[in-house]
Amino acid sequence: MNKWLCCALVFLNISIKWTTQETFPPKYLHYDPETSRPLMCDKCPPGTYLKQHCTARWETVCLPCPDLYYTNSWHTSDECLYCSPVCKELQYVKQECNHTHNRVCECEEGRYLELEFCLKHRSCPPGYGVVQAGTPERNTVCKRCPDGFFSNETSSKAPCRKHTNCSVFGLLLTKKGNATHDNICSGNSEFPKKCGIDVTLCEEAFFRFAVPTKFTPDWLSVLVDNLPGTKVNAESIERIKRRYSSQEQTFQLLKLWKHQNKDQDMVKKIIQDIDLCENSVQRHIGHANLTFEQLRGLMESLPGKKIGVEDIERTRKTCKSNQQLLKLLSLWRIKNGDQDTLKGLMHALKHLKTYHFPKTVTHSLRKTIRFLHSFTMYRLYQKLFLEMIGNQVQTVKISCL
Ligand SMILES: *[C@@H]1O[C@H](CO)[C@@H](O)[C@H](O)[C@H]1NC(C)=O
Ligand SMILES: *[C@@H]1O[C@H](CO)[C@@H](O)[C@H](O)[C@H]1NC(C)=O
Ligand SMILES: *[C@@H]1O[C@H](CO)[C@@H](O)[C@H](O)[C@H]1NC(C)=O
Ligand SMILES: *[C@@H]1O[C@H](CO)[C@@H](O)[C@H](O)[C@H]1NC(C)=O
Ligand SMILES: *[C@@H]1O[C@H](CO)[C@@H](O)[C@H](O)[C@H]1NC(C)=O
Repeated sequence: MNKWLCCALVFLNISIKWTTQETFPPKYLHYDPETSRPLMCDKCPPGTYLKQHCTARWETVCLPCPDLYYTNSWHTSDECLYCSPVCKELQYVKQECNHTHNRVCECEEGRYLELEFCLKHRSCPPGYGVVQAGTPERNTVCKRCPDGFFSNETSSKAPCRKHTNCSVFGLLLTKKGNATHDNICSGNSEFPKKCGIDVTLCEEAFFRFAVPTKFTPDWLSVLVDNLPGTKVNAESIERIKRRYSSQEQTFQLLKLWKHQNKDQDMVKKIIQDIDLCENSVQRHIGHANLTFEQLRGLMESLPGKKIGVEDIERTRKTCKSNQQLLKLLSLWRIKNGDQDTLKGLMHALKHLKTYHFPKTVTHSLRKTIRFLHSFTMYRLYQKLFLEMIGNQVQTVKISCL
């Protein structure tokens, strides 16, 4: 290789090293005009401009930028930059100009900058949701709602929402949703009143009252023949007989009959009378505003199969506070082969001591049990029962009591 070229490369290599070396303050290469020797001068800091290069004897001289001028990095320029003039239409000053920062303008809320103009963020139409909200620099990004999601509005903010899961609320799906419409669940208007309790404590007490204390052959058939309204079909009766103990069969039959005949006047009348009983129960325990932990404590104390935390969470979401306890008891009854709730509750109250449970509530629950088993209530059950089956089997019933 040529000797001179070799020297030049070595020199270049060294000078690159010098300028890229990370020193502080940063430096730059300058040739002293008097001696023509290379010097490493300090650069000027942000907020200043270069007045004089350094010499063998003097350091670099930097002076502050004048008003409305700035420099924002270490540099070697002999002038500051002029701050951008006032902001454009529909922009606001995000940061005023000072010696180290240019003025920053930004589009107003809801707009973004596109070729000098602040344009409105796009709104996603129904069926589309926002996947990236707009910023002052970028437009909204919309995307068609995927399966299971919907958007029923024109919005620059709203993402697609999940279709309501009807079963979580104990409701039936009556119309499947699409990208623009939510699922429609049935029973929506009923839930705040009943919160999906299929048999209330009063109904249960009444149904159980109708269970004969002594073995009565063909009791189920006698009942079926005498109950007004639509008859429970033979197939269902067979199923009840197969599935449930003789103690439980009457309860199951009446439950099914009530369900099939709930629009009949007779059943409505019975339910009205039962409602008086419900009101009393509500008066006793409706004010009990139990926390999640307290409900869990009570559910843990019930015998048999346990009600899980998911059920408690769901109940707290779907039922009003004065219905939550009753709903959970009804879930427990169903889970445990339609066991007698009041018996389960008595058991629970005996075993509840270990939990921090409000005394007023245990007291009210005991009172409720006594109330439902009281002589007054038995009289009511008897009256209702006789009304329900008519007078034909009065003799049968009375001999059974
Ligand atoms: C200049 O403005 C910037 C950004 O607004 C700020 O961080 C900085 O402290 C300001 N400097 C002075 C000297 O006010
Ligand atoms: C959109 O759907 C929700 C949830 O089903 C509903 O509450 C709301 O009223 C609907 N809005 C319009 C504009 O249809
Ligand atoms: C709805 O909720 C139920 C119970 O929580 C769950 O089993 C089911 O998978 C859910 N359905 C959908 C479509 O998410
Ligand atoms: C979505 O469902 C609604 C009502 O259920 C219906 O009017 C609409 O046409 C459906 N849209 C599509 C794209 O199927
Ligand atoms: C039950 O308690 C919750 C939270 O402690 C409260 O928000 C709610 O209003 C209470 N409800 C009743 C009926 O007292």
